[in-house]
Amino acid sequence: MLPPQKSTLAEGTDALFHFINITSVILLIGITIAIVYFSWKYRRRSDNDITPVITHNSKLEITWSVIPLILVMIVFGWGLTGYVNLSNAPDDAYEIRVVAKSWLWEFHYDTGFVSVNELHVPANRPVKLVMSSDDVLHSFYIPDFRIKADVLPNRYSSVWFEAIEPGESVIFCTEYCGTAHSNMMANTFVHTQEEFETWLITAGSADDDMDPVELGEQLVTRNACTTCHSADGTTLQGPSYQGLWGAERTMESGETLTADENYIRESILEPNAKISQGYQPVMPSYSGSLNDRQIDAIIEYIKTLQ
Ligand code: CUA
Repeated sequence: MLPPQKSTLAEGTDALFHFINITSVILLIGITIAIVYFSWKYRRRSDNDITPVITHNSKLEITWSVIPLILVMIVFGWGLTGYVNLSNAPDDAYEIRVVAKSWLWEFHYDTGFVSVNELHVPANRPVKLVMSSDDVLHSFYIPDFRIKADVLPNRYSSVWFEAIEPGESVIFCTEYCGTAHSNMMANTFVHTQEEFETWLITAGSADDDMDPVELGEQLVTRNACTTCHSADGTTLQGPSYQGLWGAERTMESGETLTADENYIRESILEPNAKISQGYQPVMPSYSGSLNDRQIDAIIEYIKTLQ
């Protein structure tokens, strides 16, 4: 019933989950049987059936107080240990900065490389995520790793995990953060240590020889632009790319302008400077995460969508 256990923390978390579940089921069955049995045993037999006055029964009362107390203390102690473990990353953990924006996840590596909606990590090494939000409250959740933490604006929060084998795991946002909350998903790619190192070195330069249109098409997917902008004329949270290039656009301010290079560039770097009529000012800025060459490539790609 549970997702696969793909981190070192998963087994302990599941053990506690099963303990709580099983004790609850046992108590539920026991109490239900007692209720049914007592209702039958002490049913009213005749009209002058009168219940004797019962004040208390110390032995019974202590029993039904102490047993649940012990159970609750076990769950508390066990949960606290897990919580403390989850909150304190090992000293040798590899650190990755996570920035949440409506509605995408950015991952900043120590080389300066930034990936969007793709978290790349090495297996068998603790990874610490230092997280913050650029706008509203989000929550970072990887079910396979059993880790989850709120991501807040103006404040860092952190979680850590150690993936036990190479593979892929889905990342969800679990705090309602606006219209595209349910699309705020990303993927974790767990590599072997060597593969990860190679990826880190090559990731930043992989696009260098690519054709601009092809690169642009890749970038809009990789940077989660497609969460809000379609390429086929469908209206999502933002205007579609289809037919955008060269079109006359009316802004919320009433001003009309032509969608040219400058307009698209400004929309990427300062999305809220001009808002197209009928849309909300919800796009995050890509200033600092897309360079000039990448912005040009996206413009070249949009030009082809007539
Ligand atoms: Cu971000 Cu929900």
